[in-house]
Amino acid sequence: MTTSQAPHHPASLLGLQGLPRPSLVRYLARAAAFDRDATSVPSVGARRVVANVFLEDSTRTRTSFSIAARRLSSIVVDLASAGSSVSKGETLVDTARNIEAMGADVLVVRARESGAAAAVAAGVRCPVINAGDGKHEHPTQGLLDLYTIAKEFGRLGSFDLSGLRVLIVGDANSSRVARSLIAGATTLGASVCCVAPPALASRSLASLGTEIERSLDDALPGADAVVMLRIQFERHLPDSKPAEGQARATPTIASIREYRAGYALTPERASLMKPGAIVMHPGPMNRNLELDAEVADGPRSRIMAQVHHGVLVRMAAIERCLTSDEAAGPAEWTTQREAKM
Ligand code: NCD
Repeated sequence: MTTSQAPHHPASLLGLQGLPRPSLVRYLARAAAFDRDATSVPSVGARRVVANVFLEDSTRTRTSFSIAARRLSSIVVDLASAGSSVSKGETLVDTARNIEAMGADVLVVRARESGAAAAVAAGVRCPVINAGDGKHEHPTQGLLDLYTIAKEFGRLGSFDLSGLRVLIVGDANSSRVARSLIAGATTLGASVCCVAPPALASRSLASLGTEIERSLDDALPGADAVVMLRIQFERHLPDSKPAEGQARATPTIASIREYRAGYALTPERASLMKPGAIVMHPGPMNRNLELDAEVADGPRSRIMAQVHHGVLVRMAAIERCLTSDEAAGPAEWTTQREAKM
């Protein structure tokens, strides 16, 4: 697959790695504007077409993009691999070109292969938003995580997260959510630490700017935001779905019981957290595996706030795509456009 270095429309959002701080802040500031006044949504999307090209399962991300696009008055088209020509062997890039030729203005792409969104972006003229590509990146999830943290800790003006510590607990190696959050949070000045056994958080993650810890009990008291990750069994082995009633042992963890003993966020563990520290999860949650239901639904949980913020940041990402060629757009995007000229 082509990397994100290949040429693409400048309004494409392919990842948060390498995205300059002012660009990150512009997305978050637009999300804050939508949050402050849900009625002042511009109609930049009117008669424009946003196509969801989702070749991997998704409930929340696809719905969130659809609602965001509709809030901008756009027409939403949904394409899934089942029933599409991708299942007949047409390449994703060819499919994307066809959808663009029908008049799509923005392509929102989710696929199993790392680099898929960048490959599509290099093959079409319109902007592309990466909605999750393999283990690589999930930039709008990263933005919604950053927005949730900034809002919680009163940083909505500057989006400067310095002094805050973000723990990412669990299967970071397989996680595009972790990669986007590590990139965005460190760019905004937060310290980030991945906590997991070696098989789920390898030392090589440190090159992205995160610290690595092995003991959750030791790491929890220092955290402001604790992001729990799902163990992504499907990314460890092809067809590694456990049979009914069988332990979901994989090469990466010996047993669920052992994993829970060290890394599950139970109410007892949550009591080690600072007052005011919050719990997050990108979903889908394995309730009572990585995160106990009592904590997921408890007072520290910001999981539903994350979902709410997802629509706001996706509105910002789609608006950026739809205004990038126009003379008049919100000031934030105009500044960015001028910077590129
Ligand atoms: C995640 C994803 O698909 O990357 N979910 C999401 O988009 N909210 C995380 C996961 O699958 O565990």
